Amino acid sequence: MLIQVPDVLTTEQVVEMRRLLESAEWVDGRVTAGHQSIRTKDNLQIPAGHPVARELGERILTALGRHPLFLSAALPLRVFPPLFNRYSGGQSFGTHVDNAIRQVPGTPHRIRTDLSATLFFADPSEYDGGELCVEDSYGVKRVKLPAGHLVLYPSTSLHHVTPVTRGARVCSFFWIQSMIRDDGHRSLLFDLDLSIQRLNADHPNHPSAVSLTGVYHNLLRQWAEV
Ligand code: NI
Repeated sequence: MLIQVPDVLTTEQVVEMRRLLESAEWVDGRVTAGHQSIRTKDNLQIPAGHPVARELGERILTALGRHPLFLSAALPLRVFPPLFNRYSGGQSFGTHVDNAIRQVPGTPHRIRTDLSATLFFADPSEYDGGELCVEDSYGVKRVKLPAGHLVLYPSTSLHHVTPVTRGARVCSFFWIQSMIRDDGHRSLLFDLDLSIQRLNADHPNHPSAVSLTGVYHNLLRQWAEV
């Protein structure tokens, strides 16, 4: 399931963070590529652990921790420290699947990548191309979101980024290990959560909301790894 999460960052946050991103040092993005993707990856990244990446990564994690839609959709257990990339001058990233396991730099911890996330820092009007294309069982979804918005997709998906032929596409990208490993289970819980919220909005204090909330938590209890 591909989920768009709007307004993770405010316009003011995007402007301030882009100013910091422009001051950072950018290196060849192949530093974090796996054996297979190294041949098709062509972009720039800020090195992991760079002070700007750390500072902005913290701000992104804080914003995500307060975003109800992100929390409901991802049910995050661990989030990889956000990385930053930039595509311009025809740069692209060919079709690949993200590595299943990622070592968190500078720690003994590893995360399993259940969900991949891209947070956009440039508005679609600023560049041509640069669409994130995610293949799922219903075909290819093409994603290019306003600055400050995020897309979540299953890390099991084949995906690519089309060449940026004008301007620059600047994004943050990272991975999430969810409490719910299975994408189908996670999607069911997300749909149930949204339905309960709609029920509560349309029919406040409806007794079914209590029992459905019980069902939600009991499914979470069955399926969650914490
Ligand atoms: Ni990828």
